[in-house]
Amino acid sequence: MSEDLQIIQGSKAEQYQALIPQIKGLLSGESDLIANLANLTAALKTQFRWLWVGFYLVKENELVLGPFQGPIACTRIQKGRGVCGTSWASASIIIVPDVEKFPGHIACSSFSKSEIVLPLLKAGEVWGVLDIDSSDYNQFDETDRQYLEEIVGLL
Ligand code: SME
Repeated sequence: MSEDLQIIQGSKAEQYQALIPQIKGLLSGESDLIANLANLTAALKTQFRWLWVGFYLVKENELVLGPFQGPIACTRIQKGRGVCGTSWASASIIIVPDVEKFPGHIACSSFSKSEIVLPLLKAGEVWGVLDIDSSDYNQFDETDRQYLEEIVGLL
């Protein structure tokens, strides 16, 4: 793996469609989970320039901060707490157009305005979440849900 990521202009769907084959290439050459999570956060942050892209991993019944790109973040989140803990508890994707309107939202950065969290599932069990924050409101929609679900499915 020596090539740079090809950054794409265009609609959000076009950006995902061009990014996904590159992510497949990145992941297929490496079996180490942390290495793959780290490169995935870099690929997503570089393409979309979101405020924060990162993983929290389930460890001893808590979410613990994993590989990420962006400002420093909360290190531990309890099940059912915040957007991440709610995604974990419900094993569902959560889109938050305005973080101030999500009851119990955990503000790791005051710059975060909207957020999407996807559970990482294996055999029906959540083993982590992908959390993405934007510094603008209303940044995540069904297009993000569809393509990000495909991306986490590659892990
Ligand atoms: N806002 C998240 C916490 C993680 S940070 O955004 C990186 C939440 O409410 O779970």
